[in-house]
Amino acid sequence: MNVYEIRGGRRLTGECGVQGSKNSALPILACALLCGGEAVIRNCPVLTDVEATANILRHLGCRVRREAHVVTVDSAVIGADDIPDALMREMRSSVIFLGAILARNGRASLSTPGGCEIGLRPIDLHLDAMRKLGAEVREEFGRIVCEAPKGLTGAKIPLSFPSVGATENIMIAASCAKGVTQIVNAAREPEISDLADFLNSCGARIAGAGEGSITVEGVARLHPTEHTVIPDRIAAATYMAAAAVTGGRVRLNSIIPAHLGPEIGVFEEAGCKIETDCRSIRITGPERLRSVKLIRTMPYPGFPTDIQAPVAAMLTVADGASVIIETIFENRFKYIGELVRFGAKIRVDGRMAVIDGVKTIYGANVVTPDLRGGAALMIAGLAAEGVTRVSDSRHIERGYEAPETVLRGLSAEIKRIAEDGKTDPEPPTETERR
Ligand code: UD1
Repeated sequence: MNVYEIRGGRRLTGECGVQGSKNSALPILACALLCGGEAVIRNCPVLTDVEATANILRHLGCRVRREAHVVTVDSAVIGADDIPDALMREMRSSVIFLGAILARNGRASLSTPGGCEIGLRPIDLHLDAMRKLGAEVREEFGRIVCEAPKGLTGAKIPLSFPSVGATENIMIAASCAKGVTQIVNAAREPEISDLADFLNSCGARIAGAGEGSITVEGVARLHPTEHTVIPDRIAAATYMAAAAVTGGRVRLNSIIPAHLGPEIGVFEEAGCKIETDCRSIRITGPERLRSVKLIRTMPYPGFPTDIQAPVAAMLTVADGASVIIETIFENRFKYIGELVRFGAKIRVDGRMAVIDGVKTIYGANVVTPDLRGGAALMIAGLAAEGVTRVSDSRHIERGYEAPETVLRGLSAEIKRIAEDGKTDPEPPTETERR
């Protein structure tokens, strides 16, 4: 099991670039299946989830090449319409392939993704939408089989909840359907707009992405394109929380500050100074953070559920009591049991957590429960007195590209110790990586 070892108490200073968005890269890569040729995706983060997506594309018959942050997917020839269990299990969000495989082959067979660390994560909205587009959907022996041998047909699809994954699946499937599809109560996340930009540059006709109602006018086929993935707003906000908790002063480059609106409000309420220009943010943490009255996670443009855990870790050392209500996923407080090991004072009641800020937290041996919970433990480690060991780092590596390199570049004392006990060799600098 890989471990991050952190000696806390160093103020983070300096500047760093921010990786490309994982949540944009995954659906865009899946969608490359529809290009029927060589799609070039730039600014793809180097993450295990991206590798898992590439492996699914390879299984389906695509030729996938990665050179640093550029992934090339050649989907001229496709040989399969299924995703085997083992590949589905590697990454829960592989359900995003449903719309792409169905649109390309007229048939898709996936194993049921099942629950994951943060909740049950049903896919009923995805399946209902495929039915509305004319597919026959069967669930048999733990597999989901969708068939539309004569192709899909556009429809009006109201979503009972603005699910990000369901909105993406519908946009992808409807791009090559006959006629017009309207998604009502669509998700409005920036990753939805990025996917629409990718699809439109392949010849799709999508309007309204980023708003509550999206219209997709089906076209006969898509063509290859080149696309640059947007910066990762979740990684950016995670590094902002890391800077804030150490009372540091950090500038994050190559980001889109407008995507971080709700997070910026919370950092300011906690006493941080935020300065933005069109492609960067500078955050300066105060000597002692202030508590934040109430954070309620909501679909975009509300406060993101993915930043709930990193911000909770930051608030463990704030002056006063903060309240967090998680409304999106039912099991996203698992990391709190681990934060308590640092000496944090937190009570959880159902979907509400009350954090009574303490002056000092202390280094601890903790285990990563899930991706964002893992990031929270690293943030606590940076603030804590003494040494912290965050084990089972594979969750963190699903979503953060070389966080130890980024944080070390900001003066943190952190190293990644591999399973065999060896400290990883000094990784390449950011300029070398990009
Ligand atoms: C995506 C993001 C994830 C983020 C989440 C919410 C990716 C790869 N992941 O996940 O990081 O935390 O959006 O911003 O982009 N739901 C149903 N039925 C469905 C689909 C969803 O009940 O068919 C529920 C889920 O269980 C959850 C809520 O809707 O409670 C939100 O899920 P959704 O927006 O679909 O999240 P994901 O696309 O899975």
